[in-house]
Amino acid sequence: MKITVVGTGYQGLVVGTCLSESGNIVTCVDWDVEKIERLKRGELPIYEPGLSELVTRNIEEERLYFSTSLEESVQKCLLVFLCLDPVVKYSSMDDLVRPILDVAKIIARSMTGYRIIVNKVTSPPGTADRIKETVRENTSHPFDVVVNPDFLKQGTAVDDFLRPDRVVVGCEDVRVEEIMKELYSPFLRTGKPLLIMSPRSAELCKYATAVMLAGRISIMNQIADLCAEWGADINEVREAVGADSRIGPTFLFPGIGYGGIWLPKDIDSCILFAREKGIKPYIFESIQKVNIERREKFVSMILEHYNGNVQGKSIAVWGASFKARTDDIRESPAVYIIDILIEKGANLRVFDPLAGPRLREKYGSKILVTSKQYQPLEQADGLVVLTEWNEFRRPDYERMSQLMREKVIFDGRNLYTPKVMMSYGFKYYSIGRPPVG
Ligand SMILES: NC(=O)c1ccc[n+]([C@@H]2O[C@H](COP(=O)([O-])OP(=O)(O)OC[C@H]3O[C@@H](n4cnc5c(N)ncnc54)[C@H](O)[C@@H]3O)[C@@H](O)[C@H]2O)c1
Repeated sequence: MKITVVGTGYQGLVVGTCLSESGNIVTCVDWDVEKIERLKRGELPIYEPGLSELVTRNIEEERLYFSTSLEESVQKCLLVFLCLDPVVKYSSMDDLVRPILDVAKIIARSMTGYRIIVNKVTSPPGTADRIKETVRENTSHPFDVVVNPDFLKQGTAVDDFLRPDRVVVGCEDVRVEEIMKELYSPFLRTGKPLLIMSPRSAELCKYATAVMLAGRISIMNQIADLCAEWGADINEVREAVGADSRIGPTFLFPGIGYGGIWLPKDIDSCILFAREKGIKPYIFESIQKVNIERREKFVSMILEHYNGNVQGKSIAVWGASFKARTDDIRESPAVYIIDILIEKGANLRVFDPLAGPRLREKYGSKILVTSKQYQPLEQADGLVVLTEWNEFRRPDYERMSQLMREKVIFDGRNLYTPKVMMSYGFKYYSIGRPPVG
């Protein structure tokens, strides 16, 4: 099938590349000229494990193309996938939908025959209807609109697309349903379901998933506070809770809270959708409040250790991306913590396995970004661990203890065992466990 993908960010690039990998001819379109030029040369503007090899292979096999011209690309394809980013700052549902409708208008005016517009942007209930209206007003050609929300996770997005837990398709036409089934069949050979539902349900199920996941994290984070205050260990409690087959072990890890640009935005959107219909969004609001409080509490814990004054302290930071296996620092709780420590006068030396270039771009000379993991520890007055990268899990404790001036660790991801930390002479603060050392 011939496909256009609009938007070449974390979502669009993965979607377009994976669809070309199964034999489709895909053109990825973006209005960012520099991004497209780089992609044409096979250079990736983002990091996703496994993506680079797939992009290179599919460019070479002449199945994957990049362009800045939406008009030209729409003229030549059957399906148009929307993978752009809606505005991040918004105060109404209209603000969220407007960028999608702007693109829909261009698509409609470029159509030369029947097209299927597939909306993969996480967008408010009713967006598909509004896309339909916009397209109808701008073309006389026949078309269909499908809602196909994405459940990709940055860091495992390629794998998530190639081996999804489920594919959701919101559509009202049986022929379109068949086309979507054919398109996704190479990725569903292990029997995972393709769920056909109404466009409204498809629009809402992405938000519902986001709320459930964020909710688990916030609930666990609040339980962590109980554990710390009552002398329990959240890791032990988490294992017992996660072993319950009604609950399961994933998304129960306490820490400095969830982040990234989309998960918090999805919960905020749910608050907006609820208010729009007179529903009181008690739970959605609490999930967000608890999440923001995490990072504030963590900073307070660090400041308290230094009697409220980190001015001139050399503090090492491990991790800045909002989660492991991504270079994305947008809305990362780590960035919030880094910002406060800078504001309070600390000298920060930061190592992140992938986010270094993004940190240098954002902070310039305000922090020292190192390319080696142990470099920030030299004569450091403390280490703050903010992202759960694998390489931070089993470090050389002996070396750390020799390098650091003050042997104190603030672990925002509970990567270490208090007893082990004590045995190396560290003062060790973590989440949901009393400090030791
Ligand atoms: N990143 C994820 O893990 C993820 C997972 C599931 C769903 N989503 C959804 O995917 C959507 C996109 O997210 P992302 O992370 O890829 O965003 P992103 O910011 O990384 O990329 C968006 C891209 O779209 C381009 N773009 C925006 N408007 C355009 C236009 N009018 N024409 C052409 N290009 C345009 C931008 O230049 C940018 O390259 C969001 O709705 C998000 O909720 C993202």
